[in-house]
Amino acid sequence: MKTDDEKRINEVKRRRTFAIISHPDAGKTTLTEKLLLFGGAIRLAGSVKSRRAQKHAVSDWMEIEKQRGISVTSSVLQFEYENHVVNILDTPGHQDFSEDTYRTLMAADNAVMVIDCAKGVEAQTKKLFQVCKMRNIPIFTFINKMDRAGKDPFELMEEIEKILDIEAYPMNWPVGTDGNFKGVYNRVKSQMEIFEGGHHGQAKTSAITGKIEDKVFEDLMGEQLHQQLMEEIELLDEAGNEYDHKRILKGELTPVFFGSAMTNFGVQPFLESFLELTLPPAPRISKEEEIEPERKDFTAFIFKIQANMNPAHRDRIAFMRICSGKFHKGMSVYLSRNQKKIKLAQPQQFFAQDRATVEEAWPGDIIGIHDPGLFQIGDTLTEKDLNIEYKGIPVFPPEHFSRVAPVDTMKRKQFIKGIQQLSEEGAIQIFKPLNTGIEEIFVGVVGNLQFEVLEYRLTNEYNVQIKMHSLPYRHVRWIESEKFEADNFSLTMDSILAIDDFGAPVLLYQNEWTVEKVEDRNKGVVLHTISERN
Ligand code: G4P
Repeated sequence: MKTDDEKRINEVKRRRTFAIISHPDAGKTTLTEKLLLFGGAIRLAGSVKSRRAQKHAVSDWMEIEKQRGISVTSSVLQFEYENHVVNILDTPGHQDFSEDTYRTLMAADNAVMVIDCAKGVEAQTKKLFQVCKMRNIPIFTFINKMDRAGKDPFELMEEIEKILDIEAYPMNWPVGTDGNFKGVYNRVKSQMEIFEGGHHGQAKTSAITGKIEDKVFEDLMGEQLHQQLMEEIELLDEAGNEYDHKRILKGELTPVFFGSAMTNFGVQPFLESFLELTLPPAPRISKEEEIEPERKDFTAFIFKIQANMNPAHRDRIAFMRICSGKFHKGMSVYLSRNQKKIKLAQPQQFFAQDRATVEEAWPGDIIGIHDPGLFQIGDTLTEKDLNIEYKGIPVFPPEHFSRVAPVDTMKRKQFIKGIQQLSEEGAIQIFKPLNTGIEEIFVGVVGNLQFEVLEYRLTNEYNVQIKMHSLPYRHVRWIESEKFEADNFSLTMDSILAIDDFGAPVLLYQNEWTVEKVEDRNKGVVLHTISERN
């Protein structure tokens, strides 16, 4: 029998948690499905299949997802593979929801970026990737759809390096990228992995090991392709980046894998490399102190709150990432922000619309808990009153603002409740303008689609029709000043003062250069781009 300590250490060691990002349609869902095929999915209830169905047809909790073919929400999946427990955090593919992606990345230790070989680095990949880089976590790249004609692989490498500003190291190299795909040469194992067409997911890849010059490879792919492969590998070896595991772990070098998720080609080698190259959950910082995941005491933080995920369960769920200790069903925890003791009822793990009850969970795992309105994004939960508080989750500066009001003034109460809840979820940010003489509500968002979500959800979940009036402001800065006085604050023509939902003063303005002017005119005032909620 293992002691509790041994078990905990072992559970931490075998866990890997990653977020998966991509431009919509690059193949995130398909890759996730195939990864699950290799593992005995532990808590897999409906999972990806239902997300796919949700995307394409059937009723979903948010019609917008269906109409626009985008995923607004994230889901969490877990599976086991060769004694590893892998947690996958799905992220919304659209850049307008990159704030949600950022919060999800706070809960991940690694990121996987899926790129369509024919499209290369797309606009939304770029924005999501920048969010990834802010976390300095290892980023693995899967270049998908190699069964079809795609861009030249060197061109793809260059796009990754230039557009995303990260060095790339191809772990394998494709042969026949003009639609005549033969497979990949695995540079690490010196073997040719052969593409045999569409298995649609079941078969293992067959591989031939040998030196690249071997005749067997020439017979396999023909003289011309073989010659080309030899030249390209030589070029990569001589002029390409050097393999450096430490730099991969720091997020400075991305290992690149070519494959085809749909035909299940290259997915298993990708998974195996991923497990080999990544590390288990790392310590997390609380007030300058590092909390080891192996520590006995349970600690976690809330990174996402989602209301009304499923119309059948009209409730609110807080997602937490476990950082240390063991979680067990029915346990009570302290909420660090206010020292409240809370019993965690109905702990669940989420798979698109399905839920399963969790009996126990370990560092690296994500669970959803019922939230009766107690939690905020960034909250720390601990087993005992431990004086631990994980670093807050930054709030992104919105780039679009609208004045929002209910069409029917009699519905103001529901309206306030709705926007309050959506703000607590981090779906929108609320600002109240100061010195305007009337009580108004401004909503700020990072991406315009969030306004659609706001309108849709207020109508469908709170039964409130709203009118929105677009405002000219494009930026917000949080004002830091010991002696801030709204009445004595000197503004420019294009700016106004407001307070955010947490009572912090902010400046809303139209032009970039306003910041300097305002700081100049108000001595001692510092304007911040990002606010940490706690
Ligand atoms: P996403 O989650 O990133 O949005 O992408 P998703 O996996 O849903 O894939 C988008 C489309 O690309 C799907 O086609 C999917 O079948 C296809 N696809 C994914 N991987 C590959 C691949 O390796 N090769 C090829 N040729 N296609 C791939 P769809 O027509 O939109 O959906 P479906 O009818 O196939 O379900």
